[in-house]
Amino acid sequence: MNKYFLSLHKLSKSFKDGYEKISVLKNININFEDNKIVSLVGPSGSGKSTLLHLLALLDSPDTGKIIFNNKDLVKSNDEEKTTLRKNDIAIVYQNNNLISDLSAIENIALAYLNKSNDKNKSYLLAEKLLKEFGLSNRMNHYPYQMSGGEQQRVAIARAIINDPKLLFADEPTGNLDHKNTNMILNYLFKLKKNNRLVIIATHNRDLAQKTDLRLTLSDGNVINKS
Ligand SMILES: Nc1ncnc2c1ncn2[C@@H]1O[C@H](COP(=O)(O)OP(=O)(O)O)[C@@H](O)[C@H]1O
Ligand SMILES: [Mg+2]
Repeated sequence: MNKYFLSLHKLSKSFKDGYEKISVLKNININFEDNKIVSLVGPSGSGKSTLLHLLALLDSPDTGKIIFNNKDLVKSNDEEKTTLRKNDIAIVYQNNNLISDLSAIENIALAYLNKSNDKNKSYLLAEKLLKEFGLSNRMNHYPYQMSGGEQQRVAIARAIINDPKLLFADEPTGNLDHKNTNMILNYLFKLKKNNRLVIIATHNRDLAQKTDLRLTLSDGNVINKS
């Protein structure tokens, strides 16, 4: 029985650039408890997105383990990964990744419909989230009709509609003004509870200061835990 909620063991990831191999993550070892909100900081190019993509099972590490629920998620097959992403794991992408020909409410509801056939409920939940994020008047807008900040809020709503146990957010406030940054942060902090973990990659110092744990990525390693 692993006493941690999520554990990374010797996680490494490199990319090939022509003949050259770029080692982005080198032997990362971190244990996370639940009921925490964690920030991941580090300069641009330090591997924050790469790490979050591994944790969200969007990419595979070269070596290492990601232990969650006493299982090594790296060894999951595609079907298991799909199930985990429906029920337990969600990511807010750095660039939103909203579906361009779906409206705000449709983008959010679709995430719920991936795991349930209850269309009415999916729209009710999506509407509730849009209201909470101050987007009641953007429900039927398409991504191109929304500002970067509005799109980002839709992307966050989409990620949390299934109440994931692990939520990874990749610079979720990167496009937001001060007021919207605070609104999103308040919301992310409300997600902090037992059996849940939120990890946020960010450049925002104020945000990082408020989190339970700050991890600094540098030269492929976590150099600072505070
Ligand atoms: N798919 C990829 N192919 C090649 N190199 C990549 C790929 N993804 C990321 N990298 C490289 O990995 C490094 C870390 O990138 P990234 O994780 O996006 O950093 P951060 O999110 O901290 O800015 C960068 O040098 C980037 O160029
Ligand atoms: Mg990034």
